[in-house]
Amino acid sequence: MTQQPHRERVQVGIVGAGPAGLLLSHLLALAGIESIVVETKSRAHLEQRIRAGVLEHETATVLRETGLGARMDGEGLAHDGLFLQFAGAAHRIDLKALTGRNVMVYGQHEVVKDLIAARLEDGEVIRFDCADVAVRDIDTDHPAIHYSRDGAMHEITCDFIAGCDGFHGICRASIPPEALTLYERVYPFGWLGVLARIPPASQELIYAAHDDGFALLSMRSPQISRLYLQCPPDADAADWPDERIWEALDARLARSDGFRLTPGPILQKSVTAMRSFVCEPMRFGRLLLAGDAAHIVPPTGAKGMNLAVGDVRVMARALERYFARGDEEAIAAYGPACLRRIWRVQRFSWWMTQMLHRFEDDSPFDRRRQLAELDYVVNSRAAATTLAENYAGLPMDWGDGP
Ligand code: FAD
Ligand code: DHB
Repeated sequence: MTQQPHRERVQVGIVGAGPAGLLLSHLLALAGIESIVVETKSRAHLEQRIRAGVLEHETATVLRETGLGARMDGEGLAHDGLFLQFAGAAHRIDLKALTGRNVMVYGQHEVVKDLIAARLEDGEVIRFDCADVAVRDIDTDHPAIHYSRDGAMHEITCDFIAGCDGFHGICRASIPPEALTLYERVYPFGWLGVLARIPPASQELIYAAHDDGFALLSMRSPQISRLYLQCPPDADAADWPDERIWEALDARLARSDGFRLTPGPILQKSVTAMRSFVCEPMRFGRLLLAGDAAHIVPPTGAKGMNLAVGDVRVMARALERYFARGDEEAIAAYGPACLRRIWRVQRFSWWMTQMLHRFEDDSPFDRRRQLAELDYVVNSRAAATTLAENYAGLPMDWGDGP
């Protein structure tokens, strides 16, 4: 005899407890809309998963305005500028002076910790450690999420499902392929990301273009640095012993003013492949996609998490209108509004990536052009403002303006 699933009903079922799924659940709760979040990983795993680190001005503001700012403002590092480094010299881009805005350096896993704590105040609304997650009947008005946990089967019927399950999740894959157009560019390199117990060697981030490849100096706290190195796309972190990492960082971040890194204990290392990816449309029936489930940017512009936050802000507002007055148009406008912003951010992330990385097939002409572009960006107020405006964050596009 087949086991009957345990059944529940909720207004919005959310697949994935990353920044997109958790913030969506938080925003919906503030609007009086009930949701349940289904996640395959454990709470501990999510709270330790080191990923992005830079919050756009607007992302930090949303967290603050929705009651999640206390730890961020206490422990996060507000940065008014960043450095572009090339040809052995660093050049400051003054975000604050050029745009009136700054960014907040605060790890994604800290945002996730804050969101999980806030959501669990409302009871067991996040289901961790789920297996066999599937979405059903997404083209009907009663879509459902199925999953198993501790040997029991579960079914959550909803009005809408939010697919916030990242690039490798099941939501986008549940949409008939002929209903989607996918745009993709895979880069011929990856990033080796390192967490090290050394005080940051610079107060602000350094994005460095070097003949050996790109390097980035970032941080998590006054004691912990976050560093990245361009590496082959299929590199194995095991092939990068600590000495090799420090040697490469030292070479790529060296400057003619004598700036040097002091090596220290490496706490964690991992390789991330780099791609640009967009899936259109972001909706199929009652399934709405958000964040990495719908798009990926190369990390050079520090945009991945910020885009996810932008998506779910628009989605929460559309769902609010739907539940208040049956506004189907708000649901229809969700994807197009997000995609306009997503494509502008795709452009910026691609631009930063091509300007700062070493491409194997670069000709001497390409290298000189790259240096000329950097030279222009740091010496033209107009060009520096373009970078600063995008880095600090483009304004939200709600899809209901002119
Ligand atoms: P995610 O954070 O991926 O969350 C999706 C969630 O869904 C996860 O918790 C996952 O466990 C869960 N899930 C997956 N499948 C299922 C399923 N079948 N059922 C239920 N749940 C499921 N961006 C930067 O700006 N800088 C960086 O340095 C950077 N580093 C990154 C490193 C890695 C390894 C990755 C993968 C991404 C990185 N990013 C970085 C991008 C940034 O972290 C993402 O853009 C951001 O996490 C997007 O949030 P999200 O909620 O959409 O997706
Ligand atoms: C970090 C990550 C990025 O992709 C970036 O552009 C800047 C900082 C970080 O993890 O700190």
